Amino acid sequence: DFCNLIRSKTPLECWPESWFGINNVVRHSGPLTRYQYIPGLGIKNAQGLTREQIIQQVGDAGLRGLGGAGFPTAFKWHWCEQQPEPIKYIVCNADEGEPGTFKDRFYLTKQMDRVIEGMAIAARAVGARKGYIYLRGEYLYLYQAIQQELQHAKQIGILNDLFEIELHLGAGAYICGEESALIESLQGKRGIPTSKPPYPGEKGLFGKPTVVNNVETFASVTYIFQEGSSAFHSMGTEKSKGSRLHSVSGDCEQPGLYELPQGTPLSKLLSLCGAKATQCVQVGGPSGQLLFPDQFDTTLDFEGPGHGGAIMIFDTSRSVMSITQNFSNFFRHESCGFCTPCRAGTVALTHLLERYTKLPENRQQTSKDLLELTELMNKSSHCGLGKTAGQPVASMLRWANDHDR
Ligand code: NAI
Ligand code: SF4
Repeated sequence: DFCNLIRSKTPLECWPESWFGINNVVRHSGPLTRYQYIPGLGIKNAQGLTREQIIQQVGDAGLRGLGGAGFPTAFKWHWCEQQPEPIKYIVCNADEGEPGTFKDRFYLTKQMDRVIEGMAIAARAVGARKGYIYLRGEYLYLYQAIQQELQHAKQIGILNDLFEIELHLGAGAYICGEESALIESLQGKRGIPTSKPPYPGEKGLFGKPTVVNNVETFASVTYIFQEGSSAFHSMGTEKSKGSRLHSVSGDCEQPGLYELPQGTPLSKLLSLCGAKATQCVQVGGPSGQLLFPDQFDTTLDFEGPGHGGAIMIFDTSRSVMSITQNFSNFFRHESCGFCTPCRAGTVALTHLLERYTKLPENRQQTSKDLLELTELMNKSSHCGLGKTAGQPVASMLRWANDHDR
């Protein structure tokens, strides 16, 4: 069948080079993509430390979650470690589904050994004996290669009887990137986000304390334990440490991956990738912010409006309205349907946007309705998807207001 056929092939046999090749090109490398990785050295360094010391080292580095939210990694690990429950899990969130995001794919394709080692270090820090990698359904073509990397990690002793990892393939639902929906899905249930708290660190997979981190976060852990926490801490800004990968796509001469220290101005990235006549940039994917030229001096870090990760560039030939409609259609399609504000709200958003475009004479009222709806969705949706689905619309309306459109 199709799944077995794809699993039996290498990535290159599945998709033509042009499909994914450009997305794995590191246009601008930095310490994390360039350093000489020595397999097993990071975990060897961690083995000489107590659990508290390992967590302390992650805290000293200032590592924050690189899936998008930027939550302090050491805090998550510490909380999980503190739980009296003897069974704990490590989960790697490889359900990279945000449109325009392909940074994790680089690690999954080219540096999976580093991700596995980062998971093994986390397991040692919290006392977990089992880990899972939740792989995005659309990354099926990487399944076989990752299994081989897991085998290799066993052969060189990074994985052993004390810590093993199972690879789990998602089924293509965007919402399963949300950690509680991911956990539900891993348990064989429908991927619906659950209420937090309790957070996974306390009650996660199979009700046990669980560390859930993104692919790039685990890869950074390996860097920290090989090169030292000060090497990571020396990069970035006061509150956003380190450097990270940005997936750059859209209207620019050199789309691809850019590793930049936290706090780099968006304008610098736009000049590096050869973006010309840029009208707007969606930073952080559709659930992030749509930024216009007067905001291009914003810095890419956890403090400002542009966390980075996914940078989609649109030049003046694009319609801001169409971009917004496209994002709204995406959320409408991906809403899991569990709660009304999002299930009905995402549909209403697309209808109102259509009315906004087709009936210019009613724009004032439609604009008011749209803003009310996005606010309502933000306040009453059950999870981040519904809360942020209206963000691109709100940005578009601010732009339209400023430009009298
Ligand atoms: P969140 O802020 O609710 O949580 C982030 C992490 O911190 C979670 O692991 C959560 O368990 C932990 N956490 C938060 N508060 C805590 C507390 N008080 N105690 C202990 N742990 C706590 O954010 P969420 O909803 O998990 O992620 C949203 C982000 O994900 C957005 O920035 C969005 O851009 C990004 N995203 C990334 C995608 C991708 O493909 N990489 C896809 C979709 C969204
Ligand atoms: Fe599902 Fe949307 Fe509600 Fe989240 S906000 S639970 S995605 S319906």
